[in-house]
Amino acid sequence: MDDKNRIYIFDTTLRDGEQSPGASLDEKGKLEIAKQLAELRVDILEAGFPVASPGDAAAVKRIAKEVKGPTICALARTIQKDMDVALEALKPAAHKRLHVFIATSEIHRRFKLNKAKDEILRIAASSVQYARKHIDEIEFSPEDASRTEPAFLYQVLEAVIDAGARILNIPDTVGYTTPFEFGELIRGIFQNVPNIDEAMISVHCHNDLGLAVANSLAAIRSGARQVECTVNGIGERAGNAAMEEIVMALDTRKDIFENKHTNIRRDQICKTSRLVSILTGMTVQANKAVVGRNAFTHESGIHQDGLLKLRKTYEIMRPEDVGFGETQLVLGKHSGRHALENRLSKLGYALKPKELDIVFGDFKALADKKKEVFDDDLVALVEKEIVATPKTYALVFLGVVAETGKDPVVTLKIQSKSKFLSAKGTGSGPVDAAYKIIDRLIKRKTRLLDYQIRSVTVGKDAQGEVSVKVEGARDEVIIGRGLSTDVIEASVKAYLDAINKILYKPLISKKDRVAHGV
Ligand code: KIV
Ligand code: ZN
Repeated sequence: MDDKNRIYIFDTTLRDGEQSPGASLDEKGKLEIAKQLAELRVDILEAGFPVASPGDAAAVKRIAKEVKGPTICALARTIQKDMDVALEALKPAAHKRLHVFIATSEIHRRFKLNKAKDEILRIAASSVQYARKHIDEIEFSPEDASRTEPAFLYQVLEAVIDAGARILNIPDTVGYTTPFEFGELIRGIFQNVPNIDEAMISVHCHNDLGLAVANSLAAIRSGARQVECTVNGIGERAGNAAMEEIVMALDTRKDIFENKHTNIRRDQICKTSRLVSILTGMTVQANKAVVGRNAFTHESGIHQDGLLKLRKTYEIMRPEDVGFGETQLVLGKHSGRHALENRLSKLGYALKPKELDIVFGDFKALADKKKEVFDDDLVALVEKEIVATPKTYALVFLGVVAETGKDPVVTLKIQSKSKFLSAKGTGSGPVDAAYKIIDRLIKRKTRLLDYQIRSVTVGKDAQGEVSVKVEGARDEVIIGRGLSTDVIEASVKAYLDAINKILYKPLISKKDRVAHGV
């Protein structure tokens, strides 16, 4: 805490972010994101809620073991079993923190916990005391703090500091507060909690009224030193405060925020955003600040004219500062392995020789179909490899006959180990027909929840990237991706990818989480 202007970034993409409806990450995906968050240089990485499921505990443990740089944090209720499971998962981490929470607001006390104030106070303090015997760094959150009576909040905070908590996180759990009010609440804490100088204040804002970032910034103005946030603002309901917006607001408005700054590598922001979007299946809206596809696109002639004269007329941030790659022409079919390796390293990817071999093969195949290969094409190829799952089923042949006014006829051949399965069928469209054939061939109960398609770059020959959300027989929700210049083929690959993931690693379902009571 030597630099008084430093704001600490506590990333909770893998914990609160993963609680987004529809987002679902397996251990491998969590690890990939965690490694990228370390590249981004987040200060604290909340890796999960270990007691929620054995899958969560295993992912936290793996991150604690393999991810170097940030402090690794795990969440626990003020219940001994929760804390023990979290402490066990954190064991391998070089720097670790336990995050303990209990609700303090009247509505939560009465209707959720059925506990009186003095009981909450006692549980909060004794839990921190217990945890303190096993770990040095403890963060405490009074859940629903923004709707808690301030006098009671001060009492709880004083007690947990006495018990050994050194980071006090003030959550606006239901996204109810407003910037002025929240700034006042933080100021009130500094003025009314007698031992507050023994701790650091953190804030954790939800976005139900679209104010999560504004509330976090107001808290920083009032002296909060840590902000909890997620990449792309994903999280419960309307999400959490978006990390990229907080970081860039501080960076762009140093005048207002009196040189407060983070340690985040801004040039890694877009890469991280894209990875999180791909792996969670949560698409980023085009007009999303900082990382949306249109964030730096100027459509109006007046704006374009101004920009050509002086960029700052209409641009308050430079796209390259946040790693917003221009879609430039890079390679063609005559480019070699070395040129590809060079370009990938400029895009921030250092591949192992074996990975480079695979991506080079894919690149050559793509360059045969598509004259111009852009940066975004390369990123899509690399990320396809990063998230690759062992292929229980692989596409061998796809034939489509589609005529206006007639039902399409699809022929499919897929490989499963040394066996080939093939069939012909029809449906309301070629994708529907192909998915029905796959269901028939593999005899598995799955449900398609969502289907999205986007073009990776510009041009009629652009690759189509299909992302599907599929629910398996145990209610697990899996994201599958497929990439091809032929969108029907991309759709088939995406569906098979989801099925392969379901077969590869049975996940703990959201239903199981509810059964665990978390
Ligand atoms: O929103 C919230 O209150 C939380 C706590 C567990 C910090 O996520
Ligand atoms: Zn939260």
